[in-house]
Amino acid sequence: MTDLPDLIDDKIKRIERDVDELRVRDKEADDFKVRDEVFDELTLKALYRLASTGLIQALGGPISTGKEANVFHAIGPGGRELAIKIYRIRTSDFKAMHDYILGDYRFANVRKTKKDVVFAWTKKEFRNLTRARKARVRVPEPLKYRENVLVMQFIGRDGVACPLLKHAVENLENVKEVYDATIEFMKRLYQDAHLVHADLSEYNILVDDQAEPVFIDMGQSVLVQHPRAQEFLQRDVGNVVKFFNEAGVRASAITVLREITK
Ligand SMILES: Nc1ncnc2c1ncn2[C@@H]1O[C@H](COP(=O)(O)OP(=O)(O)OP(=O)(O)O)[C@@H](O)[C@H]1O
Ligand SMILES: [Mg+2]
Repeated sequence: MTDLPDLIDDKIKRIERDVDELRVRDKEADDFKVRDEVFDELTLKALYRLASTGLIQALGGPISTGKEANVFHAIGPGGRELAIKIYRIRTSDFKAMHDYILGDYRFANVRKTKKDVVFAWTKKEFRNLTRARKARVRVPEPLKYRENVLVMQFIGRDGVACPLLKHAVENLENVKEVYDATIEFMKRLYQDAHLVHADLSEYNILVDDQAEPVFIDMGQSVLVQHPRAQEFLQRDVGNVVKFFNEAGVRASAITVLREITK
């Protein structure tokens, strides 16, 4: 038996090894700036604590590296696959985040340092996913968050994430069914969870192996009371309708908007 501190040390070593590996990959990609920002001290601490609770057993490779966040594959208790989303502290679009958090009474007390806003953002995504799930919208099950780190169910298998709707569409036998489910989820999100996704498009919907849509990326989602909720909803509807129209489904933004809000 290895005692716990040793185990945790092992986990951290593994994380650090992965970080090093990422550094190498970045070098190859001629991009030096990313890694130190992702695994800054606060992030490592948060990961360390999550590992020490046993929630993260091993950290895998990156699934996605983006502007606001990086998503990693990981293994949790019982070999369960996890997705770990790590928001960047230094390079996040602080101003945009702040605009979304302003106007959300749940976060009225958030102090205005960059770090605090990113932490609030992480918590907000966790809560939004929780609300969405309660309303029977398919989203990754949120498991835990800590500082800028969000741990959730991995949508995929054996380390391979399910494709984005954008890419899955060509192989779908019944696009109309995916469209209908998407609209149904938007409706549940609005009517039961009282949320608007606010960044919904073919880039934030995964399609699982049952050809079911899964909404992801809900940090920016807002309550329907948010002053800009209607504007965001219209934009979401516009994106979804445009995409499915191009995929051959006859959809009308006005009808969909009415369906969601009636
Ligand atoms: N739970 C999950 N299971 C599997 N893959 C996921 C999961 N969450 C996110 N991903 C993958 O990671 C990508 C980025 O995730 P997400 O959309 O939440 O971050 P993001 O905020 O868009 O990041 P950025 O905008 O900075 O690129 C997704 O497009 C998807 O491929
Ligand atoms: Mg996204």
